[in-house]
Amino acid sequence: VNVLRRRCLQGLLGSACLPWQAVRAGAPVVLRLSHVVAQHTPKGLALQRFAQELAAISAGKMQVQIYANSQLLSDDDEMQALQLGAVDMLAPSLSKFGRLGFPEFELFDLPFLFQDAAQVHRVMQGRVGQALLAGLQRQRLVGLGYLDNGFKHMSANRALLEPQDFVGQRLRVQSSRVIAHQMRALGAQPVVLDFGQTRRALAMGVVDGTENPISNFWTQRMHEAQTDVSLTSHGYLGYCIVVHQRFWQYLSPLQRAWVEQALQGALAWGNVQAQQRNTEDLQALRASGHCRLHTIHAAQRQRLRQALEPVYQGLAQRIGPQWLVQLEKERA
Ligand code: LMR
Repeated sequence: VNVLRRRCLQGLLGSACLPWQAVRAGAPVVLRLSHVVAQHTPKGLALQRFAQELAAISAGKMQVQIYANSQLLSDDDEMQALQLGAVDMLAPSLSKFGRLGFPEFELFDLPFLFQDAAQVHRVMQGRVGQALLAGLQRQRLVGLGYLDNGFKHMSANRALLEPQDFVGQRLRVQSSRVIAHQMRALGAQPVVLDFGQTRRALAMGVVDGTENPISNFWTQRMHEAQTDVSLTSHGYLGYCIVVHQRFWQYLSPLQRAWVEQALQGALAWGNVQAQQRNTEDLQALRASGHCRLHTIHAAQRQRLRQALEPVYQGLAQRIGPQWLVQLEKERA
């Protein structure tokens, strides 16, 4: 599958002549959008909704072609494809922007920082969130908004509730230095893997466990490859919608307004869906009887939080302490 996808990418990049520039006069503008999760996830659903809204608002003059579930591009390939114009829009998790040269995005990965989605939204809408979007122009990207998935939980073939439970575990992580540091601070070994490879890596025992919101865990059938889910809610997973400036400037002011309007509606709707999907998928996981579900007690949470203090210091050293100071002001 990987070879096939790589050939596909090479094919796309080989013809990366910005296909939207070559459209016939009067033909609809087709916006190509790639992502790595299943259709029936918060992100999958919100982006389908965006496609519907954009088609409706533009009376069919703009259409969205969605490539879901890493079918076209993996985590590793998608940003390169956007830079080269082989796709037009992406919605990577905030955790994946650090590796691309935007380490400030990893603020959202800090463990036990946010208590609920309302706190996350205050930061996104405040100066920190807006500064992050503005900073994307350093790589000629335009940030068009944020979308929730939800809070992540730990899974493995054992409960992961106390720092000592993590020792020696090989845990799949996204390509975020904060998340890798989080796992190391608990004595685990972080293994960076593309999302699309994670389920197989769990099933083959290449890694022992991972962290996910339940919607991603359930829709990738990771429950068939893990015996225990610890409901730690230790970190947040959300997304940033990005396009390349070249594509954005190619659109007319009216087309840009349509995209913004459609996104605004779809992202607000998506955030409501995200809560619902994670709740319903947790019920389905519970009912499936596949995994033991563990709740975390306040004292366990406190011990994990304490062991993770160096992660905060590490990020503050890398991006400067002022980011965390500002975030603290806005979160409250
Ligand atoms: C992950 O890699 O775990 C997530 O970023 C996947 C996603 O897009 O939700």
